[in-house]
Amino acid sequence: MKLRTMFCCALVCCFALVSTRCTTTSTSTGSASQEIPHLRKQGTTRQLIVDGKPFLALAGELSNNSATSVEYMRPIWPKLVEAKLNSVLAGVSWAQIEPQQGKFDFSVLDGVLRDARSHNLRLVLLWFASWKNGLSSYPPDWVKKDFQRFPRVRTQAGKTLELLSTFSDANRDADAAAFAALMRHVKEVDGQQHTVIMIQVENEVGVLRDSRDHADLANKAFEGPVPKELMDYLLQHKDSLIPEFRDAWKAAGFKTSGTWEEVFGKGRPANFEIPIRVDSPPYKPEDLESFRKMHWPVDEIFMAWNYARYVNKVAESGKKECNIPMYVNAWLQQPNYPWPGVYPSGGPEAQVIDIWQAGAPAIDILAPDLYLQYFAEVCARFNRNGNPLFIPETRGGPEGAAKVLYAFGRHDAIGFSPMGIDRSTTPDNDLIGSYDIITQLAPLIAEHQGKGTMSAVLLAPDDPPQKVRVGNHTLEASYLRPRVVAGAQESQQPLPSSAAIFISTGPDEYYVAGKGVSVTFSPNTPGPEIDGLATVEEGTFVGGGWVPGRRLAGDDTGQGINLDLRNEGIQRVTLYRYR
Ligand code: DGJ
Repeated sequence: MKLRTMFCCALVCCFALVSTRCTTTSTSTGSASQEIPHLRKQGTTRQLIVDGKPFLALAGELSNNSATSVEYMRPIWPKLVEAKLNSVLAGVSWAQIEPQQGKFDFSVLDGVLRDARSHNLRLVLLWFASWKNGLSSYPPDWVKKDFQRFPRVRTQAGKTLELLSTFSDANRDADAAAFAALMRHVKEVDGQQHTVIMIQVENEVGVLRDSRDHADLANKAFEGPVPKELMDYLLQHKDSLIPEFRDAWKAAGFKTSGTWEEVFGKGRPANFEIPIRVDSPPYKPEDLESFRKMHWPVDEIFMAWNYARYVNKVAESGKKECNIPMYVNAWLQQPNYPWPGVYPSGGPEAQVIDIWQAGAPAIDILAPDLYLQYFAEVCARFNRNGNPLFIPETRGGPEGAAKVLYAFGRHDAIGFSPMGIDRSTTPDNDLIGSYDIITQLAPLIAEHQGKGTMSAVLLAPDDPPQKVRVGNHTLEASYLRPRVVAGAQESQQPLPSSAAIFISTGPDEYYVAGKGVSVTFSPNTPGPEIDGLATVEEGTFVGGGWVPGRRLAGDDTGQGINLDLRNEGIQRVTLYRYR
């Protein structure tokens, strides 16, 4: 008897220990804790820390205006819980919280906070204020109507856009004051519970319809010198600048002072009309080429600096009140029509990460709204120069289910969030499956992020096998097509991408999770040159503890040659070596 009681106590202690390592569940919303959400460095990456533990945001973004009505949201919350989310991206409208200048109404926000808490969901608030998708539909009426006091952007052709100018202190200060009021309120009503874990400042900023602002204020700045502050930063970081940007500066002679055009080259020729684009794959090879470089870089760099400075002032004002992590999201450059102005020029694109890091130090993350098919490439382009990967907008479904594994496993992502989650009428079972796998693996993922002991692959049906070095072995992953069941009608749907995460938990031990992938191993350290599969078991993690299911061999390991992750799941494998 005594021995069994002792064993149970030991077991309880170890579960308690594991669950303090990381959280993807937000069961602790409502329980007071000291540490406010923040980013913490681990190895080569930074993790989001919530209530003292790394937090992997398994999120979804609501449609733009869903959170402007507590009633509208009531039937939606249970759906979000069913979708295995632990956090929700919800818009906060400047116009709704400050209908009259200096008069704030947070009643709707308080309702959203209350209901998120009661569903154990964390919130990422999206500050829809000066800018939204390269235009300005969220400023309050007292701003919109007073276009003298709150000036707009003008195109080279002289057309005024419904877009607040970055060159107006009045625009900036009005936005910053409202944002400070919002963050002061968040601190007051959520300072202990930390339901709000992160803030997005504005939404997809930049100039649409032209590659830069041509209003008088803007032209005056454009004809002036590049700020010394920016030049000092670029000189200081010259060897680690993003290559696309560095090439643009180099092409103009690496000048260290002068006007914007003297330093970064000529802007868009007046006779080049910016098309209002319709983005349409498939892309031609030359499209991809132009997608990976800058066009009339000076216009985009000039706007990026001015948006960064403005957004930084807004973020700083908010952080003084409540210092939680803040990010900006980018409407991505597209392969065809790759010109600034087709996508919002000056937004936080991969090619201007340096400008945003120089101009907006109060912004912690530059985040891609990743709808493009070049998922792996865009993740790699944004996860540079110490910029952590957070994906506030993307798609769910089978593709999302694969891509979320890749984002967390390969790029130490902080979070993943399909857009418009309240629009779906049926549960997204593919994504739910992947969110469940990540929830199970969360303590391990959090432990291995930034340490080079974890990786992942993302494979399209016709992709060649991919090799990744993780720990002491090299893993070769191939796309595994679903088995064709005799007599079953072949699906007309194109096969989705596949993905798998690999975590090296010992010299010859791995946890491998995902779907539609087969994996072989080879050693990359001295010794017998052939890897063999010793123990292979499928299983689950419960409360952070591994619970093995079937022990696999024979048909389920290619007769001992490879791991077979045809169906979604987690496998633990130990290897031996022979020659
Ligand atoms: C990207 C924006 O960030 C979202 O708010 C939304 O407008 C989508 N585009 C389109 O639904």
